[in-house]
Amino acid sequence: MSRKRVAILISGRGSNMAALIEAAKAPDYPAEIVLVLSNIADAGGLARAREAGIATEVVEHKPFGKDREAFDRAVHAVLEKHRIEIVCLAGFLRLLTPWFVERWSGRLINIHPSLLPAFKGLDTHARALAAGAKQHGATVHHVVPELDSGPVIAQESVAVRPDDTAETLAARVLAVEHRIYPLALRRVAESIAT
Ligand code: GRF
Repeated sequence: MSRKRVAILISGRGSNMAALIEAAKAPDYPAEIVLVLSNIADAGGLARAREAGIATEVVEHKPFGKDREAFDRAVHAVLEKHRIEIVCLAGFLRLLTPWFVERWSGRLINIHPSLLPAFKGLDTHARALAAGAKQHGATVHHVVPELDSGPVIAQESVAVRPDDTAETLAARVLAVEHRIYPLALRRVAESIAT
């Protein structure tokens, strides 16, 4: 079976991106990371991707103003140019339109730092602490038009400690993210034909 061509979409430091790149170095990994795309020209992860010898592209959202679909169409065109088969969102801070999500249905996945369906959206660690959650964690899921709501592919929990701050909790959850994202991508890559 040929390795699936994967793009990772980022807006920031790209630690999950780096975990995926590392995992995909294994000869038996069913996907290869061929592109890292960002909406932010100086996203830290872009430099890391280039160091790893991976092609990078920038599609800034600003010129598109409020026309989200036009931005998504521009991203889609770049993905087609690179013959991408699976898209991994990894700290990509743009809400994608139904136009894009439907086109990539089953081949578009995201990582979210909570045990979905708990704590969709931002500031998940502080919100978990404020709610007195005993368990927290991370989820990789298929992307659907509704935010942080698609079918779960992989999920792992972390026990919340009494002395946790949002930062200490985030650090333990991030370690889990770096473990489960490669597992989830493997699962998706193995499950889709051609
Ligand atoms: C991660 O916590 C991820 O779950 C969330 O955004 C953060 C991105 O971090 N969606 P990084 O850029 O992968 O380091």
